[in-house]
Amino acid sequence: QQGKNSAGGLTGKKVLISAGPTREKIDPVRYFTNRSSGKMGFALAEAAAAQGAEVTLVAGPTDQQLEAKNIHRVNVVTAEEMYEEMHRYFPASDIVIKAAAVADYRPKNVFSEKMKKQMGPMQLEMERTKDILKSLGEKKDKQFLVGFAAETTEPLRYGLQKLRAKNLDAIVINNVATEGAGFEGDTNIVTYVNKEEAQDEMALAAKSEIAEQLINCIVRDMKDEVL
Ligand code: CTP
Ligand code: CA
Repeated sequence: QQGKNSAGGLTGKKVLISAGPTREKIDPVRYFTNRSSGKMGFALAEAAAAQGAEVTLVAGPTDQQLEAKNIHRVNVVTAEEMYEEMHRYFPASDIVIKAAAVADYRPKNVFSEKMKKQMGPMQLEMERTKDILKSLGEKKDKQFLVGFAAETTEPLRYGLQKLRAKNLDAIVINNVATEGAGFEGDTNIVTYVNKEEAQDEMALAAKSEIAEQLINCIVRDMKDEVL
C-alpha cells in the first residue's frame, strides 16, 4: 500500500496529457474557443512528473507555465492539431489523460480576409471537429485512458455515458455549475470514476492537490489491472 504523497509511483512510465482549450479560426481576427485556463491539465503534468513519470503535455493556447523542467511541452492551436499530436505520442504512452477542453465545432469556412459586418444578423455554418478521446479509445491497447467530463446537469449520468462511449479506463467528472469547480479558478471539485464505477469524490481543493489525488487513483487502478 502506497502512501498518499508517495513519490516514484510512476517511475519508468510514459504519461501523455492534453490541456487547455483549442482555438478554431474564423477569419484573421476572430476565433471560437472554450472556457479553459489549462490549470488542471498543467497540474496533472506536474503531479505525474513528481511521481517520476516521463511526461508529454500537449497544450492548447494558454498562459500557463510549467515549473518542472523535465516535462516535454508540445503547443497546439486547433482541435485538428491536437488530434495529430495526441496520436503521435499515444502508441508509446502508458497513461493518457485528456484534460483539454476541445472545441466540438469549427467554422466550416475560414475566411482569409476579415469579415465585414452586415446590416442584419449573420449565420455561420459550423462543422464537427474530430472526437480525439474517442479515436484514442478505439486505438487503445496497453494504455490507461482517462477522460474528463464537464457537465452542468446530471454529472454522474453523463460522465458514465462518456466513460463507456469512449472506451475509457476512468473519467474525471467536473460539475462546472458548482462554486469553486471548473474553469479559470485555482480550485476544483471532481469525482473520479473508474470502469468498475468505483467513485472517488474529491472535495474542494487546490487543482495541484486534486491532481495529486487523481494521479494516485490512476496508479492504484493500473496496479489492479496488472494483478
Ligand atoms: N474530447 C475530445 N475531442 C473532442 C471533444 C471532447 O478529445 N472533439 C474529450 C475531452 O478532452 C474530454 C472528453 O472528451 O476528455 C469529454 O469532453 P466533453 O466536452 O465533456 O464531452 P463531449 O464528448 O464533447 O460531449 P458534450 O460536449 O456534448 O457533452
Ligand atoms: Ca464537448
